[in-house]
Amino acid sequence: MKMRQALAMEAFSVHSTALLIMIMISVSTVTQSVVRCDDMQNPLPPIVPGLAYGFYSKSCPAAEFTVSQSMQSFLSCNISQAAGVVRLLFHDCFVQGCDGSVLINDTAGEQIAIPNLTLRRSAFNVIELIKARLESSCPGTVSCADILALAARDAVFLAGGPFIPMPTGRRDSLNFADKATVESNLPAPFFNSSQLIASFSSKGLNETDLVALSGGHTFGIAHCSSFNNRLEPTIDPTLNPSFAQSLLQICPNSSVNAPTNLDILTPNTFDNKYFTDIQAGEVLFNSDATLLGDARTKDYVTNFSSDQTQFFEQFFFSFTKMSMISVLTGSEGNIRNVCSVLNTGNESASQGIAQQMQTDMSAST
Ligand code: HEM
Repeated sequence: MKMRQALAMEAFSVHSTALLIMIMISVSTVTQSVVRCDDMQNPLPPIVPGLAYGFYSKSCPAAEFTVSQSMQSFLSCNISQAAGVVRLLFHDCFVQGCDGSVLINDTAGEQIAIPNLTLRRSAFNVIELIKARLESSCPGTVSCADILALAARDAVFLAGGPFIPMPTGRRDSLNFADKATVESNLPAPFFNSSQLIASFSSKGLNETDLVALSGGHTFGIAHCSSFNNRLEPTIDPTLNPSFAQSLLQICPNSSVNAPTNLDILTPNTFDNKYFTDIQAGEVLFNSDATLLGDARTKDYVTNFSSDQTQFFEQFFFSFTKMSMISVLTGSEGNIRNVCSVLNTGNESASQGIAQQMQTDMSAST
């Protein structure tokens, strides 16, 4: 346990210099107003109208810095929490767009849909905590959808991945999707490559985006129920036999729903080892393994496995694209007071929840 903590801290401290750069970039958006695209080394996808780099540079200059600082302190306790925030953004964006709708905690809300039951509560809590901080400094200004997008990009970076300049200006939804809509919009772990390609294509993402974004499985965890279809009644022949045996130890029968790491090589680091896992038959989901068996995706797996820089550049590009799916901008939607509750106009009730969240988070860290 101590060893694992030491490794996590080591990975964290390797990135402390880079974090400084990240903070400087956040601060520079405060003073220079907008980061220009041609200042970046990597190509950026076209920005959806209504979004901009440094959108809050005048209305809430410390917004990005507040998010980065909060994420740094959240992850310094436990870097393995980074994955939960990244998955939260994916589940927000694929269901009615990146509008913060997944954050709403309603008995009929998106959170009751099956794929969302394993979203991490700590990820919801840190977004709410950041929102509460930003409501104190810049009331009614920074959307929950933007906070989630910024927090997810910080999580990628703090876990060892690329720094992704994130356009902002998203607005929050006035509603949420029902359970059936969530389940039909999120791809399932048993999907084959054609189903995945169709799912991503419906969101404006191509095969390259699919493979790069699947690289999100380079960290974090999954539960037996997400992959035990590959263990019983018969073992999936594309699974490495000894890896299959080790999974059977963790998931001996369908009544056990234990968690296990997605990337067996470097479970808490954002790197390209997931693609090496795919080549070795050591990934959990059919949706991961299938990327090697399809001519439309195989070469990307091979390239990303042998060249981390190429993976990082493509992930950077595809992640930005994903973060702009069907966003609300301008006068659409609103700025929620509390991310988990739709605005009612009853500001004091919302403030109470925000303060309670802040107390809960302080108690848990
Ligand atoms: C390609 C289609 C995808 C499928 C079928 C899929 C499915 C899943 C499933 C079933 C889990 C584990 C749930 C559990 O058992 O606890 C998971 C975890 C995860 N997914 Fe995906 N996913 C996909 C794409 C993505 C994308 C695009 C991202 C982000 C870029 C992502 C990021 C993650 C992360 C970080 C985790 C670990 C979460 C944690 O540790 O809490 N996934 N995914």
